[in-house]
Amino acid sequence: MLPDDLLALAKDIAVEAGELLLAKRPARPEVIDTKSSPTDVVTALDRETEDLIRARIKAVRPADAILGEEGGDVPGAVPGQGRVRWVVDPIDGTVNFLYGLPAWAISIGVEVDGEIVAGVVNAVPMGELYTAVKGGGAWLAGERLHCNTGVPLDRALIATGFGYAASRRVVQAEVLAQVLPRVRDIRRGGSCAVDLCSVASGRVDGYYERGTQYWDHAAGGLIAAEAGARIGGLHGKPYNPELTICAAPGLFEELHDLLAALDPERDAPTGA
Ligand code: IPD
Ligand code: CA
Ligand code: CA
Repeated sequence: MLPDDLLALAKDIAVEAGELLLAKRPARPEVIDTKSSPTDVVTALDRETEDLIRARIKAVRPADAILGEEGGDVPGAVPGQGRVRWVVDPIDGTVNFLYGLPAWAISIGVEVDGEIVAGVVNAVPMGELYTAVKGGGAWLAGERLHCNTGVPLDRALIATGFGYAASRRVVQAEVLAQVLPRVRDIRRGGSCAVDLCSVASGRVDGYYERGTQYWDHAAGGLIAAEAGARIGGLHGKPYNPELTICAAPGLFEELHDLLAALDPERDAPTGA
């Protein structure tokens, strides 16, 4: 299957999952479980949506691997070349989903041999379906997306996010206190996938965050990159859970250097 075909399937599934979430979201969704901390919540619909996404992938492509935030990494049946793995966050921005804020999305990235080649972010309440295929550009509603270019750091609107653990937030707040006076302003949207799509569409100029997981940025990272942004970690590393930075070339380097000087890949001692 070509990346375009994988994208078409990912898109259909993300649309169906979005319909399920819109139809079933109660006025006040209930927290049924927590993960890394008491504020890292799971609703019944996170699980139901991931189950639906897994079932739809399996029905068409039973041999593929699936990594999902709620259900873990289930290996596929195809060894060697051409291995396909789906990387799924059924609701990215669960806290927004819980409170009825609009920035949440279904994120589906598709890897072939370890590289993301197609990605869909369905920002359901915003009515926006972002897509990208590697080498084919990033798209929203039939329009090709281009990130903002030529923006210096002191004029840049920068999105970021915070982890769920208090010990991480202590350092994130320290770093933010140094970043805030050096940029136009900061946005904390509440969904890494939507933030990356906002870099792609020019709603923000850049993004950085410590602690995001692969399923948070697999699809959005491709969408931002295909819109012309650079995405990576500190000191030439690929983007990773320690730190993800995303912005147009030029701003990327300025933001990178500011962050690198602040030693952002650390957590405070537990209980700080
Ligand atoms: C979270 C969102 C949030 C980011 C957190 C993520 P979740 O994902 O992407 O913007 O700041 O790091 O964990 O828990 O809503 O799927
Ligand atoms: Ca997420
Ligand atoms: Ca999630």
